[in-house]
Amino acid sequence: MSLPWDRLLAERATRIRPSLLVDFDRLPASDELILFSGGAPPLECLPVEKIARALFDAWHAEPGALGYGEPQGYEPLRAAIAERMRQRGVAIDPDDLIVTNGSQQGIDLVARLLLEAGDRVVVEAPTYFGALQVFEPFDVQIASVPVDDRGVIVEALERELSARPRPKLIYTIPTFQNPSGVTLDPERRAALVALAERYGVPIVEDDPYGELWFDRPPPPPLRALHADVLYLGTFSKTLAPSLRIGWLAAPRRLMKLLVDAKEGADIQADRLLQRALARVLADEWFEQHLAAARARYRERCALVLRGLKRELASLATWNEPAGGFFIWVALPEGVDTDALLVECARQGVAYIPGSAFYHDRAPRSTFRLGFTTLSPAQLDEGIARLGRAIRAALRPDRA
Ligand SMILES: Cc1ncc(COP(=O)(O)O)c(C=O)c1O
Repeated sequence: MSLPWDRLLAERATRIRPSLLVDFDRLPASDELILFSGGAPPLECLPVEKIARALFDAWHAEPGALGYGEPQGYEPLRAAIAERMRQRGVAIDPDDLIVTNGSQQGIDLVARLLLEAGDRVVVEAPTYFGALQVFEPFDVQIASVPVDDRGVIVEALERELSARPRPKLIYTIPTFQNPSGVTLDPERRAALVALAERYGVPIVEDDPYGELWFDRPPPPPLRALHADVLYLGTFSKTLAPSLRIGWLAAPRRLMKLLVDAKEGADIQADRLLQRALARVLADEWFEQHLAAARARYRERCALVLRGLKRELASLATWNEPAGGFFIWVALPEGVDTDALLVECARQGVAYIPGSAFYHDRAPRSTFRLGFTTLSPAQLDEGIARLGRAIRAALRPDRA
């Protein structure tokens, strides 16, 4: 007997956004598809030995860490995170931080605390796919505010904030945004925080890439401007995604609720890993690792930008990010990058189409290139293939 699952599923389940990874499996097979889809550190950057040693040492020092406990997170790790935030201009008490299972869980916990069906949520357009995956099942209205080369457009944001019902939260990625690579400039940072305060709407600041700048550090996080900003950080991009260790900085008034909600979701973050991570952060190696990662990503980004200029100068425009993992490419109005992806995959290259980063999922003429996971040789070859595929599709006479 099989149960009638279609009837049993909650309405909420029908609103869950399908994973991008699954969609990539559906592309036409190609021997070695060069995937510009990654949003992670490259394999050679994952500090396997460092983490293995730190885990071993942590386990020997404190075998009891394999048990239950510390739902808010390991205090010395929270203290180390608070110190790193202080260095970026954010004064914060370790007790105002909760360690989360990646920043993804931070988005989810905030949504659980604040959202009810019918609420309005303001996001950037485009925005991080995974945030939409969290918000959409709550049956909220998503208000999308466009981003230009200085970040989210604050005049458009104000229109959304002044509309009724008042939004319940503003979700923003102000630094090296995913997917656009854009950074909100200091003037707009101040304006955004002032608007949120005036209209009484909480800001959720998602900041996975802020430490991964190329030439100079970005402006301090929005959390430096206002203590009510809910700030999300993570070690997924600076160390390794599968550690699943991130953090949420929140006002003290919310902390007990967040800890209780975290317990309800998954009880606690991995205590052994948190101890290992505290050891890694205390080691001067971590700063060297970050410096090497910045140099590597700067070089790879520059390589892609040079390739785009060579291959697509008259057909596309793109931004030049100052950090982070992504370049956002715009083709002429009317080009459907969902359809074009199939052509590109036939040529052995893939990107993430713009539609993935909008609530309405409608085809767009934009796409995201992630440049961190590919080697320089793959990047070069990948952009050459992309150029060929796009020229063939857009100017069949001149391909
Ligand atoms: C903007 C943004 N937020 C959150 C995440 C998820 O990060 P984590 O691995 O810490 O859950 C990502 C990962 O791509 C991201 O780009």
